[in-house]
This record gives sequence, C-alpha cells and structure tokens, in this order.
Amino acid sequence: MSSFMLAIDQGTTSTRAVIYDVAGKTISSGQTEHRQIFAQPGWVEHDASEIWSNTREVVGMALAKANLTRHNIAAVGITNQRETTVLWDKRTGQALGPAIVWQDTRTQDFVEKHTADGFAIAMKDISGLRLNTYFSVSKLAWLLDNVPKARALAEAGHAAFGTIDSWILWNMTGGADGGVHATDVTNASRTGLMDIYSCTWSAELCNELDIPLSVLPEIKPSSGHFGVCHADQLLRDTPITGILGDQQAATFGQAVFEPGAAKNTYGTGCFFNFVTGETPVVSTEGLLTTVAYQLEGQRPVYGLEGSVAVAGSLVQWLRDNLGIISSSSEVEALAESVPDNGGVFFVPAFSGLYAPYWRPEARGAIQGLTRFATKAHLARAAIESTAFQVHDVVACVSAEKLSDGGALKELRVDGGMAVNNALMQFQADILGIDVIRPQNVETTSLGAAFAAGLAVGFWEDLDALRSLWSEERRFTPSMDEDTRKSYLGQWNRAVGNTVGWLD
Ligand code: G3P
Repeated sequence: MSSFMLAIDQGTTSTRAVIYDVAGKTISSGQTEHRQIFAQPGWVEHDASEIWSNTREVVGMALAKANLTRHNIAAVGITNQRETTVLWDKRTGQALGPAIVWQDTRTQDFVEKHTADGFAIAMKDISGLRLNTYFSVSKLAWLLDNVPKARALAEAGHAAFGTIDSWILWNMTGGADGGVHATDVTNASRTGLMDIYSCTWSAELCNELDIPLSVLPEIKPSSGHFGVCHADQLLRDTPITGILGDQQAATFGQAVFEPGAAKNTYGTGCFFNFVTGETPVVSTEGLLTTVAYQLEGQRPVYGLEGSVAVAGSLVQWLRDNLGIISSSSEVEALAESVPDNGGVFFVPAFSGLYAPYWRPEARGAIQGLTRFATKAHLARAAIESTAFQVHDVVACVSAEKLSDGGALKELRVDGGMAVNNALMQFQADILGIDVIRPQNVETTSLGAAFAAGLAVGFWEDLDALRSLWSEERRFTPSMDEDTRKSYLGQWNRAVGNTVGWLD
C-alpha cells in the first residue's frame, strides 16, 4: 500500500530525500553534500551531473533506511535551490557548461549593459524581478554566449534550459529517453523571463536577449501531474506531482497560504516570503514579486519576497575560511560566550547586497573592531547580521502597508538556524514582533511533499495541511526600545559603508 510521500530537496549545499507519513511525520531521510566550485572570485558553480547522481543516491538511502520500496510511495515532490541555471544537450543528457549557482556574480557586466539599454525596466515590468546577477536570465545568456556550441545547439532545438527542478524532473522521467522538460510556476517566476501576470514565458524578453523559446521548459502549476519516474529509477512508475522552489516550498510547508501571513527561512541565505493573494503586488520597497504557489485548476497565489544572500553560509565561512569554529554547530556557544557584540557589526555582502538594497557591487565588511574584540564577538556579529538583514526585509512590508493594520503581527520561522534559540530571541527583539517556530523546522521538504500529496489525494485540501502545522516555541520581544534603535542605527551605518566603499 502506498502510505508515504517522498520529497526531494535539492539545496545549495546538499541534496536530501525525505519520506513522510500522512501525519506529516518524517519516517526517514538521506542526505549528501555536493562540491561548491569557486573558479574565480564571485563565481559559484555546481556540477549538474553530480547533483543528479546524488539525487539518485539519497532516494535510495531514504528508502533503504525505512525498509520501503516504490510500492510504498504514493507520489514524489521536488523542491530546489532556485535560479541556479543548467543548460544541457537533450540528445546526450550532458550539461553544457557548469550549473551557474544563484550566488554567482559573473554576469555583473550583463547587468550593467542591460540596465543602461532599458531591458531592466522591461524585465521589472513583465517579470516582477529586478535585473540582478541573482536570477537565471543573465546566467542562461552567459552559458549561451560562452560555452562552445551552446548557442548553435540551442538554435537547432537540441538544448534545454532548466532550473534544478527541471534538470531533476527531466532525468527522473527518462532523460534522453523521453524525459519531461517542464518546471513549475514558482521556479519560472525566479528566472526573469516569465510574465508574472500571465505565468507564461515572455517572448518580448526572450527576443531582446536572443534566447530561443525552444530551450525553455513548459510551465505547470506547483501541485499537479508532472510525469512518472522512468523504468531505470528505484521509484519507477511513481508519479511526480509537486514542484516548488525551495522558499515557496518552505512557505507552503509552514501552512502560510493566506494573504498577510509570512515566514522566514534561515538557510544558506535568508528568505522572507509574504503571501499577497491572487493578484501580483508590485513592491515599492525593494521586495520581489513572485509566485507563492499554484494548485492545479486554480489561479496562482502571489507573494512578495525579501531575499538575503548570506546567512548560514556566513557560519560556514567562519568555519572554512577563518577557522574560528570547527563545526557550524559551535557558533551558538561561541557567540553566547560574550554578553554582546562588543560594538562589532558584520555586513556579509559576499554576493553584493540583495533585498532591499540591490547593490551587487557592495562587498562584505566587519566594522567596529577594537583590540577588545575576540573571535566570540565576530561569531556574535555574524549571527546578529542575519537578524538585522531579516529586519530590513520585514520592515518593507510595514512600509508598503500590505497586511491588515500596515505591519506584520508575527513571523513563522524555519530552516537550520531557526533552532538557534539565542538568534530567534534576538530576531524577535530586533523585529519587535513574535517569532514562532513550528515543531518541524524542515518545512522546505515538507512543503514539496504537501504539494505532491494534494495532487494525488494523499491529503485532501489546504485545511488538512493546516491541521498538520503546530507551534513548538514562541519568542516574544523583550528588548527595550532605546537599545533596539541603537542596534539598528549602528547596523544601518555599517550597511551604508559597504555600499559606498567602492564608489
Ligand atoms: O534563491 C536561492 C534559494 O532558493 C536558495 O535556498 O536554502 O539553498 O539557501 P537555500
């Protein structure tokens, strides 16, 4: 009997497969990391074939650990690091060049050129996204222009473009042997090439950049039938019925479905997602218009997103580049070993600054150093930088007066760093609103399972999903207003310096 759902969560640093029961409880999981390739300053690449072989491996691990087979799995959901761009030859299944990761800034020249020629304005109006190195569009243009034969193959109809969801879907459904070339609307909404109003590819934007429409995947609702696993897969014949970009999956897994509700995910980066409803809202404050989810046969539900490039990856940097901790889990104790940041502020603008600043040329800085400062102060400043960055995107919602009463009342949190109690308390203090952590903080894979499960009747409706969410802990603000203002004032000055120092 098919009593379980399987979610594949292909993230920036690792790939996971998680099996859930009907109560939304995790039954087993498999996980493996992949290489981060930094070929030049600002470049971040993955190997698409490594990601695909890791996907197969973790599915096997999760099934084996629970002693289950494909017969026990009702359907598969896929969620993924968004924007990361793969171009491949449909005849061979070989990637044409590297997978260019969302954090990669190699296309800064493209951004400058097309900001000057007006493309950026058209892109913002049509796709709801700002022209920035972050999104897939400039990465796809780079691959077409720089990988030998890529453009010729694309023009001959042999090349396929996809975000990671498409790459996994195509391979799972047969690859060169008839794989399905599709994506979901949430992932498509992060490329910069989708018309956010009609949820179709924009011929106008593609023409402007000479991107052949034939390379683009079919756009489908997030919950619905995508295809079935190919005969050469462990999960052969199992339907794939849900795809969501990871931040939208986390939103869905948090049961954040209604306008006015929001979540923040603390992952490699930090992503604040606020649901606005069935009509796209254009931000005046530096947030991105994006699709939150779409159920089959229904209108898309839109959201605004505040994307922060660096959060958990800063802890990895403290570990790998400075060596001041030997494992990421040590950072909390080190940061807690001092009563405050000692005046140190860390602006981790390693990929420039994303929302709400959108300054790709900004570079990271540690400020306020004196001889008093220790590695504990650095760790504390690093942790606090996450809370400050989240504050800056959440504050946009109040400025846009989108929720009832003009300000967000509470924030649901998830992701790896959400288990850090000190950070969550500091987050509540800096935001001045309650921060709520659910029982299950791994809401990304859960959201993909939810979307896939809805499509096959594993769960009946959104109410059934709502009933699976429960609060584990609520963090209530306790910092006095003067201290809060003083922290934010110093943080703002530090941010201003990172933006200005190259000018
Ligand atoms: O937009 C990038 C985002 O999807 C990456 O998420 O969790 O891999 O940091 P994560």
